[in-house]
Amino acid sequence: MQIQIFQDEKSLHHAVAQTLIDAVKANPKVVLGLATGSSPLETYNNMMVDHLKNGTDYSAVVTFNLDEYVGLEGTHTQSYRYFMNTSLFNGLNIPLSQTNVPDGTGDLKEVCETYEAKIAKAGGIDLQLLGIGTNGHIGFNEPGTSFDTRTHITELLQETIDGNARFFESAASVPKKAVTMGIQTIMDVKRVILIAYGSKKAAAIRDMVNGPVTESMPASILQKHQDVTLFLDEEAAALLK
Ligand code: F6R
Repeated sequence: MQIQIFQDEKSLHHAVAQTLIDAVKANPKVVLGLATGSSPLETYNNMMVDHLKNGTDYSAVVTFNLDEYVGLEGTHTQSYRYFMNTSLFNGLNIPLSQTNVPDGTGDLKEVCETYEAKIAKAGGIDLQLLGIGTNGHIGFNEPGTSFDTRTHITELLQETIDGNARFFESAASVPKKAVTMGIQTIMDVKRVILIAYGSKKAAAIRDMVNGPVTESMPASILQKHQDVTLFLDEEAAALLK
């Protein structure tokens, strides 16, 4: 596991964005795995600015997002499809047909199987961007999720629901389930970059890096992945030895 520590959020986002931009430039048909949440927002802004200024070409790029809430249509303002369209895709020249976010509606068993098949057909994910939950979740794989999982339906923990309630009218209107790539789906990607900043993430980063590999700390499995780089600010890295 490689660790890069940045003095401030600005330089952190710049570096993460540049890593993604470099991957697109090196392989215009790159398959990117993407995340939602607050962590990558400024990274995505940097990518959109770069596209405008430097014309980085996304016309052949394919993307797969980690997760989606069950029950939300892609037009719902809190759906992850909506988030991705408005926070990144609409600011790049990527055809939306090449962007994949799990469908949170319809026959969910079929949604999960189709998603895995589509990733395989695309040749697998070349570079996956991850955030991390304060409880160590990656995607919506909460503590206790089997390391063997592929794309599946998961029940959100109350702490995750509470954490996301700020985006909804109330905690009661936060969906209770999500479709998420599984841990094994994530472990199959060729390269992982994980972004975390702020003191709230420090304990999770410490346990992920230095703790035992255990299903009660989902991100700890990344110790066994061959190509992982953590992009951290000093606060998130504060508890690393
Ligand atoms: C998002 C995702 C989650 C988040 C994590 C951190 O697609 O899969 O695992 O990366 O919950 O969220 P933020 O970035 O909001 O702290």
